[in-house]
Amino acid sequence: MSDSHVEAKRRAAVQAVDRVESGMVVGLGTGSTARFVVEEIAWRLRAGDLGRIVGIPTSLATQRQAEALDVPLGTLEEYPTVDLTIDGADEVDPDGQLIKGLGGALLREKMVATASRRVVIVVDESKLVERLGTRVPVPVEVVTFAAGAHAAAIRALGAEPELRRTESGDLFLSDEGHYILDCRFPQGVADPHAVHAVLRARPGVVETGLFLDLRPEVVVGRTG
Ligand code: A5P
Repeated sequence: MSDSHVEAKRRAAVQAVDRVESGMVVGLGTGSTARFVVEEIAWRLRAGDLGRIVGIPTSLATQRQAEALDVPLGTLEEYPTVDLTIDGADEVDPDGQLIKGLGGALLREKMVATASRRVVIVVDESKLVERLGTRVPVPVEVVTFAAGAHAAAIRALGAEPELRRTESGDLFLSDEGHYILDCRFPQGVADPHAVHAVLRARPGVVETGLFLDLRPEVVVGRTG
């Protein structure tokens, strides 16, 4: 990731935080862009430009960051309706349909986004695609039991699944203790709704990284 991409993410994150108002319950996303969002919220709280915010973190990593920066936190159980969620994404198509989950937090991210009145997605321009699945695989969160048993069904959809591993080679476990199958579609995903529906109908599939019909506001940080 070049410095200009990092700077573009940071600029977009700061712009997105302009939508946060005092007293709001705010969904805090996960990933390198969302980290800038949490930093900016913390900064504005400290400066007194924002007050009475409750953050709902979408991952343990975000929870730790927010706690370290003294951003007040709550849970989705305490606040089942979230005013505004700001999160990153791995791909955004022209209709605002998304792929998320390369950071492994897709399940909590989708739960929080779905509970939100407004969703703001912050990306640099490299995430904008004509068709979902052309840049990144579709992450699919599955229970650990017989995770390989989904392979044939995924191949029948035209994708090649691969169990995600950590950098040290261990199987990646989500915050909820599940595996992630990264499903690469060589031609992209022609029908995201159909792919999502087929996968979600399989016992053992917990959630997919296809975030459809959320109608997010997309803030794009441009390089240069
Ligand atoms: C985390 O699970 C993801 O959905 C992230 O929101 C997504 O991967 C974007 O991450 P970056 O902002 O690090 O690119």
